[in-house]
Order: sequence, then C-alpha cells, then structure tokens
Amino acid sequence: MKKFYLTTPIYYPSDNLHIGHTYTTVAADVIKKFKKTQGYDVYFVTGSDEHGQKIQEKAKENGLTPKKYVDKIVADIKKLWKLLEIDYDTFIRTTDDYHVKVIQDIFTKLYEKGEIYKSKYEGHYCTPCEAFWAESQLVEGKCPDCGREVHLAKEEAYFFKLSEYRDKLLDYYEKNPDFIQPLSRKNEMINNFLKDGLEDLCVSRSSFDWGIQVPFDPGHVVYVWIDALSCYITALGYGSEDDKNFKEFWPADIHLVGKEIVRFHTIIWPAILMALDLEPPKKVFGHGWILFEDDKMSKSKGNVIYPEPIIELYGIDAFKYFLLREFSFGQDGSFHREKFLQRLNSDLANDLGNLVSRTITMIEKYNEGIVPKPKVQDELDTSLKEMGVNVADKVEEYMDKLNFSSALEEIWKFVRRTNKYIDETAPWILAREDSKDRLDTVLYNLSEGLRIISILIKPFMEKTSGEIRKQLGISSEALWDNAKVWENIEQGTKVQRGNIIFPRLEIEKELKVLDEANQKLIDSRSLNKGGDKVEEEKVEKVEEITIEDFAKVKFKVAEVLSCENHPKADRLYVLQLKIGEEERQIVSGIKEYYSPEDLVGKKIIVVTNLKPAKLRGIESNGMLLAAEDKEGNLSLLTTMEDIESGATIS
Ligand code: ME8
Ligand code: MG
Repeated sequence: MKKFYLTTPIYYPSDNLHIGHTYTTVAADVIKKFKKTQGYDVYFVTGSDEHGQKIQEKAKENGLTPKKYVDKIVADIKKLWKLLEIDYDTFIRTTDDYHVKVIQDIFTKLYEKGEIYKSKYEGHYCTPCEAFWAESQLVEGKCPDCGREVHLAKEEAYFFKLSEYRDKLLDYYEKNPDFIQPLSRKNEMINNFLKDGLEDLCVSRSSFDWGIQVPFDPGHVVYVWIDALSCYITALGYGSEDDKNFKEFWPADIHLVGKEIVRFHTIIWPAILMALDLEPPKKVFGHGWILFEDDKMSKSKGNVIYPEPIIELYGIDAFKYFLLREFSFGQDGSFHREKFLQRLNSDLANDLGNLVSRTITMIEKYNEGIVPKPKVQDELDTSLKEMGVNVADKVEEYMDKLNFSSALEEIWKFVRRTNKYIDETAPWILAREDSKDRLDTVLYNLSEGLRIISILIKPFMEKTSGEIRKQLGISSEALWDNAKVWENIEQGTKVQRGNIIFPRLEIEKELKVLDEANQKLIDSRSLNKGGDKVEEEKVEKVEEITIEDFAKVKFKVAEVLSCENHPKADRLYVLQLKIGEEERQIVSGIKEYYSPEDLVGKKIIVVTNLKPAKLRGIESNGMLLAAEDKEGNLSLLTTMEDIESGATIS
C-alpha cells in the first residue's frame, strides 16, 4: 500500500487551546481522512513541546513541578482532540522516555561528526529574567521583557553549524520546487534569511535545566528546536530498536505548520536532517492565521473564542466545515461569529439540509419510501449526472494543493445544482400529472446525487456523511471511487427519514447564545484556575478600608452537608451547607485540593451576603474562605474550637 506521512507541529502546552490552535490539527485530520479514501496507508503524528524556560517558570508560579504542570495541560489538549475526533496515530510528548533517549543520541552523533561545537553565547543578560538579548532587541538599553538593567555576559553553549547549509538548502529548494508551500513563503525564506547567509544556531542552554540533558555535558540542556523538530522522526521510532515505521514512512509527505514557524521547518529542520544523513521532508505547508474579527486571537487581548461552545451548540461537522470552507488555507482570515452562523444557515441548513429532506420526503411520499428504478433519461438528467461523476476529480485536484476551500466549493456547486434539478423537474407536478416513469427517474437521480455527495463530504464531515447514508438506506461503506460512477445505489433500497441534519438558526438569537456560552467558559476557566485574574486584583487593591466597610461583609460558620461534582465543570464542586437553620448551596473551585470525604461534616467559613451568581448554570450563594500560598497550596479556613454552624464572625 502507498504510504503517506503527515504531521502537525508539536504544540506548546498552553492552557485552553482556542480555535486558531485547532486549525492545523483539523486540517491535518481531514487530509488523513481524504488520503485514506484514496487508498493510502496514512500515519499522522501530533504532540506536545514541553521543555524550556517558560514552562519551568509557569510551573513554579503554579507551585508544581514542570512535569506535573504539563501533564494536566497535555491531558486537556488530548481531550480537545478527542472531542474533535482527531484520528492521530501517535501523540508524542517531548518528555516521553523514548524521545529523550534518541535526542541524546542525536546530539552526541552530531557532536561527534563535528556538526555541533562548543563555544560561547554572548549577549546582554537580564538576571531576573534569566534571558540573553541581542543589542538590537533591547528597549532603550534595557531588558525588553521587564525593563530592568542588563549586563554583558557570556554563557557557554553548543552551536550547530547551520551556516554551512545555505547552499545545500538553496539547492534542495531548487530541485524540489514544491517543498515550501504556498510559494510566497518560499520567496520569503530565500530573501529574508538565506540570501545573506546563515549564522550558526545555538542549540543548548545552561541557565535553566527543564530540558533534555546533553549527555556528555550535564550542565547543558538541548535547546528547543532540535528537541521539538526531531519528534517527527522519533515518533516513527527513528534511532530505536523498532524503527519499522521510520523506514516505511520517512520522509514526511507533509509537515503542516502555521506561517510563523515555516522558517524552523524549512531551514533548521532540513539542515539537521542533512547533518544526520537523512532525507528532508517532501513538503512544508505554512498556513495563515485565524484572526478574531481582524485582530490576532490571544488570551491577553480577551478576544479568544474557544471551540468547545461552538461544538457543543452546533456540532463538530459545522465547526470543521466552517474552518476549512471560510478561509483560504495559505492566508490569514478573520473569524466572525455572524459569518459562521450565516454559513450554517446558507450552506448547511439551506443547501445540504434541504436537499436531504426534500429527497427523502419525496421518495416516501411518491414511491412508498423505495428508491425507484430509473426509466428514460432526458437532457436535464444527463447534465446532472455528468456534473456529479466529475466532482471527485476536481476535489482531488484541489486537495492535492491543500485548497480545502475550493474543494468544498466544488462539492457545494453540485449540492446547489441538485437542488436546482428538483425545481426544474418539479416532481410534485409529475406526481399530479401521473408521469410515473418521469417521476421515478427524477427520484432515482436525486438519490444518486445525494449518494455521491455523501461520499465527497466524508473526509470533511464524517457524521453528516453517515447520517445522509442512513437516511438514504445505504448500509455499505462510502468508497471514494464510487463517487465517480452513477447508478450505484441498489434497487429496492428503502429510505428512512431522520432528523433535520442542520436546523435553520435565528442569527440574532444564536449570537447571544454563542457569546454567553463562550463567556461562561472563560469565566469558569479563570475561576477554576484561581488564576491570573485573581492574582492581579490582589496586587492592585491593597487599599485601606474603614471598619464600616469591613462590617458590610457577613461571615458565618457553615457545616458541609454534602459535596458533589459540578455536572458541567471539571474543576468545580457543588456544596450543600448548613448555616444555623438555613441551608444553602455554594459552587467552589476547590476540587483539586479536597475530596468530598475531606469536606463533608467539616465546619468552614463562608461569606453569606455575596450576591448569588450562576457558575456554569448552577447557582452559587456565597463564597468559601481559603488561604493560598505562593506555591499554590490551599487550605480552607475553620475555627480553633468546634462551634455551632451559623455562628457569626467579626
Ligand atoms: O509553534 N491561527 O507551537 P504552538 C492559526 N511548539 N493557527 C494558529 C493560531 C491562530 N490564531 N494560533 C496558533 C509551536 N496556531 C511549536 C512548534 S514544531 C516542531 C514546534 C497554530 O503551540 C500555530 O501556527 O505555538 C502552530 O501551527 C500550532 O498552532 C501550534 O503552535
Ligand atoms: Mg506559537
């Protein structure tokens, strides 16, 4: 079987991936599904890039070891890929043992071959930030991150002889004109980086230790790019006892990456591979960014849209369809919620949804639910048929260029053409006029058109494809080549009306629903984290208050009656409390710290006159008090001696 190897980047473990992050992975997954329909044996690798100073610092801020810190985030990332039904073959973590070992071997091998040498890294050093800066990076002579003084310093480091690969790279580009896609990115690489020569690359660090140790010089760790890029080969077993996959699948057919990391994949990565006497990948495709209403999506700007609410409300097929149909893959595009909802209405509910329900309903109404035998075909039929059997070829052509948007547009041209065929043939008139032969032919052709559509959309929208086939009464597998033939549906097939596949939406109303769902998720995430936001407020509000101000807050002792998981939020508990005669419910983010058994029966301190709030749909009436230290340890407040619940605190 023909082999096809495909990768996404190895993701930084960042909290809560947004829709921009899902772009590369959704696209890669669709390519895998598409290539499989064409009979390829596809291997798909994704993973997480877990080392480095930033992660080490973040972990410290959170009072966790770096590994503990990334474990949780990586689990969330995997959960998101599962929700999106991403069918990867290996999820590699740069902290995986087998990867670590091979990276050490690679580093040693390159050192022994003279491709890596030890020297000094010179620059302006910011001690609090533990970071080196080049002269040009300084802001008014100070650290660009924290604005403090820097001093000239040298750090011993290992360097990779990247400078020696300039001509080899240019030669590789020339001999493989499709290596960098889209073409504009290739010109960018040549003009901005290769033309004036390359500098050697620093590949180790000694100012932090969260990384893979250089085996022959333990004060150094391998600096990110060799570690992360090599995942593409270690995930296949390169350098291990079982390197069967590597032998079968390398070189990669496509590395899919965002445009900001094309440079690493088309300059550093092929050079490292050449140094290891391995073949460079066949193609690197740098896709554009998804902006949010014309701005780059980022957590700090507060304009993040998360995929989960969209998926929960409208399903993964609508989400994937929009991502791949709306944007040109090579270019930046803006995510507008209105546009998403409009496309749902026009392309999915109107065009496709209507075609399905009209076809099935008419077969039920006019032929007792049985797909009829076609009779004489006229010109209208032939033109529909001709268009239908040719769509697959066009889709293939576009998919080979990773032009998802045009591929989908071709399919939708046929969807709209088939809808038009209904209007042109007007089966309801044929039924009234008793033109049974003609009616049978029309109904048959509609089933055929729909059957072809169900195959064409399968790599993009697996669920919808399956649903259409179910309603058509087809039980066989959707094979790509069958999209190229007409008259494939079995005689006597019985259709089965199901739910409307994409209901029409009221845009104004849905905009609100979507906004609320997204905001709710943002709130619960910052609440659960006890995170960044709370921290900021603490620092800002060290204002003095009067005794009257303080007296406004009512504290009481409360006994925990029960403690249950929040049905919709992973990190929240719903607690029932007894406060004197009164019972009340509080939702709290203490799940990471206490199990229900720790809590039930305990007397704790609560604020009782806080305005009630809904936390992910559940009412919370009050707030628990807890102490938290810098390491992130948390302890609930209680009283020195046992005291009745309801006792007031002042
Ligand atoms: O770069 N629109 O990881 P990463 C489109 N660890 N794509 C976006 C996006 C947006 N708004 N935001 C992020 C890294 N992405 C390195 C890779 S590979 C050996 C090491 C995409 O987590 C981004 O372009 O920052 C990239 O393809 C992917 O998410 C992971 O980015
Ligand atoms: Mg990035």
